[in-house]
Amino acid sequence: MCIPFCGDVGYEVRVFVKIYLMRAGRKSFRPCFYPGDIMRIGNIKLDAPLVLAPMAGISDLPYRVICRQFGCGLTVSEMVSAKGLLYNNEKTFAMLQIDPAERPTAIQLFGSVPEELAEAAKIVEDRGADIIDFNMGCPVPKVVNNGEGSALMKTPELSGKILATMVKAVKIPVTVKFRAGWDEEHRNAEEIARIAEDAGVAAVAVHGRTRNQFYMGNADWSIIRQVKEAVSIPVFGNGDVFSVKDGLRMFEETRCDGLMLARGAYGNPWLFAQLRAALEGKEIPVVTVEEKLLQIMKHARALVDFKGEPVAIREMRSHASAYIKGLPGASGYREKFHKAETLEELGEIVDRYREFLKGMQVQ
Ligand SMILES: Cc1cc2nc3c(=O)[nH]c(=O)nc-3n(C[C@H](O)[C@H](O)[C@H](O)COP(=O)(O)O)c2cc1C
Repeated sequence: MCIPFCGDVGYEVRVFVKIYLMRAGRKSFRPCFYPGDIMRIGNIKLDAPLVLAPMAGISDLPYRVICRQFGCGLTVSEMVSAKGLLYNNEKTFAMLQIDPAERPTAIQLFGSVPEELAEAAKIVEDRGADIIDFNMGCPVPKVVNNGEGSALMKTPELSGKILATMVKAVKIPVTVKFRAGWDEEHRNAEEIARIAEDAGVAAVAVHGRTRNQFYMGNADWSIIRQVKEAVSIPVFGNGDVFSVKDGLRMFEETRCDGLMLARGAYGNPWLFAQLRAALEGKEIPVVTVEEKLLQIMKHARALVDFKGEPVAIREMRSHASAYIKGLPGASGYREKFHKAETLEELGEIVDRYREFLKGMQVQ
């Protein structure tokens, strides 16, 4: 017997897409994207309302290029410290590198001092970013204890000052990403969105969890809808989109202008191609196991070119595991990947896994 692996692109999803597109034609439900539509953040054009979220340790240049090639409309970098740029930190500067193949690209900054962020924004603009994104969502204690990341949701006045100062400092659009609020008792995403719009921010992304939730529980999409109803700049919905079905439901339930994908796109850049096809009314591409295995090596070679073999292979251990997540034998091979030291070793493990899957007749 042959076991096909087709991700989530079954009959049910196709029917869902059909219903979505039928509804899209109705006046009462104006979707944000038709084939051929161009979406804008300020003066920057996006050819799809799909964004690769900032992910520290993941959304580096090679992965951003990959996601763009798979059809995402905008990539956002890992979070970059404003202070690191002002102190001329070499590693921080290396994070500003952009490949023409990934454009349009936003570089995400974090910090809490308006003047420092304005200076850092100018550096990022000079380095050729298309957009500057500001981080008001990071929940990590090291960051929030400095009053940065999601801690800024507790100080709306300072947040407004930071955003207005950044907007004034550069010509390129400034966007901001934040959470539902600090905790259950302080869910002020709507207030922050209004402040951002008043400060001249060009678009917002809302992660439907509070800081206290970190990544636990479910993202509350109703807060994204509230933000969408509160402002007239584009709103990107973020949180728990792992499939085409999730993505279309996010559009429908929140009326957001675009989706921002993080964990759903990790090890699965095909999700961009699938969502894009769904939005354009085209057949949703099916991902084969062989494509996944080839992609691991393609990704690894790009990462080796960019970071050198030792660092790249260390980082590829988790990427490779993410690519094979959910496939038969994945947990055993994850352990093997975590021992790989060189590109050659990684390739040997991929080959052995290919043989293993052939034996199980998985395609
Ligand atoms: C490993 C990892 C790193 C992240 N790094 C950042 C970051 O640098 N900046 C940021 O704004 N959000 C960061 N996030 C949060 C994501 O952008 C996103 O808001 C969150 O994962 C929810 O979206 P999802 O359900 O699609 O994963 C990170 C998330 C993960 C899992």
